[in-house]
Amino acid sequence: MNIIIRQETIEDYQTTENVVKRAFADSMHSDQTEHELVSRIRKSDAFIPVLSLIAVEREIVGHILLSKIKIHSDKQTVDSLALAPVAVLPAYQKQGIGKLLIHAALKKAKELGFHSVIVLGHPEYYPKFGFKKAAYWGIQAPFDVPEEAFMALELTDNGLYNVSGIVEYSSAFSV
Ligand SMILES: CC(C)(COP(=O)(O)OP(=O)(O)OC[C@H]1O[C@@H](n2cnc3c(N)ncnc32)[C@H](O)[C@@H]1OP(=O)(O)O)[C@@H](O)C(=O)NCCC(=O)NCCS
Repeated sequence: MNIIIRQETIEDYQTTENVVKRAFADSMHSDQTEHELVSRIRKSDAFIPVLSLIAVEREIVGHILLSKIKIHSDKQTVDSLALAPVAVLPAYQKQGIGKLLIHAALKKAKELGFHSVIVLGHPEYYPKFGFKKAAYWGIQAPFDVPEEAFMALELTDNGLYNVSGIVEYSSAFSV
């Protein structure tokens, strides 16, 4: 298998959305609307085109999107990124493609100068990439969520030092 990770272009949008839809089709933790979320984020101020990456093996088989969020406390507001969603076509799962996408997206985010990433997702999956419970830093979701599923990662040394508060997602996340 020869997988290339590259930035998504406008010509890829429709195929990517199909891949996202098919990836989540059998997921218990999904409302099967993640492809619509991708579409809304792309149209929002939170979108950073270089952080929308696809995995290509002849056709598109996976996608990851990091978009802008804020972490608010009484004292300060800090910029961060949400990892949402990441998706690999069922036939291509468990072959390391998700890992390639996540590593590539985190590397690019760091190059762009971001200090942290927040994810709501499988508590068994994301710790492989260094994510820890966001509660460790006193960072909370703006909605009810199991504590272990809401995670954060420092992209830089002490990237979340003295950062705590409530995550504010972009309006693309509200339907
Ligand atoms: C989650 C998803 C993106 C992972 O992609 P993938 O290409 O299958 O993952 P990888 O093959 O890169 O797996 C990397 C590691 O995580 C493990 N892993 C994969 N999926 C996992 C899961 N759902 N839970 C726990 N561990 C998982 C793999 O065994 C592998 O472990 P290893 O590095 O110790 O060998 C993919 O399964 C998917 O699209 N699922 C449906 C959509 C979804 O749930 N997205 C995530 C929302 S939070």
